[in-house]
Amino acid sequence: MSKKPIIVFEGIEGSGKSSHLASVARYLKQKKISFIKIREPGGSHNSEKIRKLMLNNKSNFNKNTDLLLFLSSRSENISLIKKNYNKKVILIDRFTDSTIAYQHYGMGVNLKLINLLNKYLLKNIKINFTFLNIVNNKNLFLRLKKRKSLNRYDKFNSAFYSKVQKGFVKLANSKKNSYMIIDSNLEIEKNKKSILDKIKKLI
Ligand code: TYD
Repeated sequence: MSKKPIIVFEGIEGSGKSSHLASVARYLKQKKISFIKIREPGGSHNSEKIRKLMLNNKSNFNKNTDLLLFLSSRSENISLIKKNYNKKVILIDRFTDSTIAYQHYGMGVNLKLINLLNKYLLKNIKINFTFLNIVNNKNLFLRLKKRKSLNRYDKFNSAFYSKVQKGFVKLANSKKNSYMIIDSNLEIEKNKKSILDKIKKLI
């Protein structure tokens, strides 16, 4: 295992992935381990411009346009990842699996096309480990309700989020040794500990 791994945090809205990523970032900072963190869509300067456009509530792109915009945003992050690959720990809030889960399992875009485009962008960049955060329907909507503002992707119905989450779980089950499923309906401190224990082994 690389000592400077790429570690991805995945999951649907309200699954707690961003808070867990933040606590891992705090841990690395405290240990003086160099790292970068990226979120998708967004991350680099140009990707943040694409994020603004696509998550804006006034936008109404079709699913293929969305796919291509998510990939455009990723494409702009690849040089940032390459620059730091094997040099710094790279923490990513959503990456290739989000595209498979949302655009394929959620929206029905062709899986082969998504895999091909992801492969084309990533080339020999490898994700070392993924934390998949899952949440039940009740907590999902409770947590969404607490948000100050909702973006275009925070407004799907429960059937959609359930399809997306099932897609994520399918991906995790297909590559069990590089995934950990975190049940965010359980106690956050326990989950934090399981994640940090794993991080210590990865770096
Ligand atoms: P964001 O606010 O970053 O997510 P969160 O609610 O977890 O903080 O919104 C990003 C949205 O974009 C999220 O709903 C998932 C979606 N998405 C895709 O549909 N495909 C992708 O490839 C990526 C990276 C994100």
